[in-house]
Amino acid sequence: EKTKILAIVGSLRKESFNRQLAMAAQAAIGDKAEFEILDFADVPMMNQDNEFPAPIAVKKAREKVKAADGIWFFTPEYNHFFPGVLKNLIDWLSRPISESEPPLLAGKPAAISGISPGMSGTGIAQDHLVTLISFLNMDVMNAPRLTVPNAMQQLDAQGKLQLTASAPYLEKQAESFLTFIQEHK
Ligand code: FNR
Repeated sequence: EKTKILAIVGSLRKESFNRQLAMAAQAAIGDKAEFEILDFADVPMMNQDNEFPAPIAVKKAREKVKAADGIWFFTPEYNHFFPGVLKNLIDWLSRPISESEPPLLAGKPAAISGISPGMSGTGIAQDHLVTLISFLNMDVMNAPRLTVPNAMQQLDAQGKLQLTASAPYLEKQAESFLTFIQEHK
């Protein structure tokens, strides 16, 4: 069966650079794996009063994560951290569905990339994300990670992201993640 990669983009913005980076990653993966970007815009704020039964949007996200062989995070950097929407989603995913179900994220291969208009290219946010997903025992591919700075300088005439210097690094990360997932299996 084909390897399934689930992309989780930490931005809800329509024109998100990180979403566009995820789409470039999808192109880099090509037909070597199934690749889907998780839609979690309707996942509510974590409230333990609403955990059982979990909201439908949370159930759907859990099913996608469960079916995935690897999770590829694309995170913006907000104030040197990853955005709250991403923390909120991961908090939901970290909770057991029932006592018989093993933790959803534990052991799951994870890759991390990010893009920002500034010079840091989300590196500091990524470090914090590593801390979180390592706590959840995800199997993190620590290298290569991809940090793409200067997003504004990489837009075509239509305002769409066209990676320049980073393109070969994205290709390389895609290859590495496919291998990482295979070795994990
Ligand atoms: C930002 N931005 C930002 N960029 C950065 O490189 N380092 C940072 O610490 C911050 N901080 C920050 C805080 C908040 C609240 C916002 C809204 C934005 C800018 C950010 O990188 C930019 O808006 C990106 O375009 C967000 O990613 P998406 O939505 O394009 O994927």
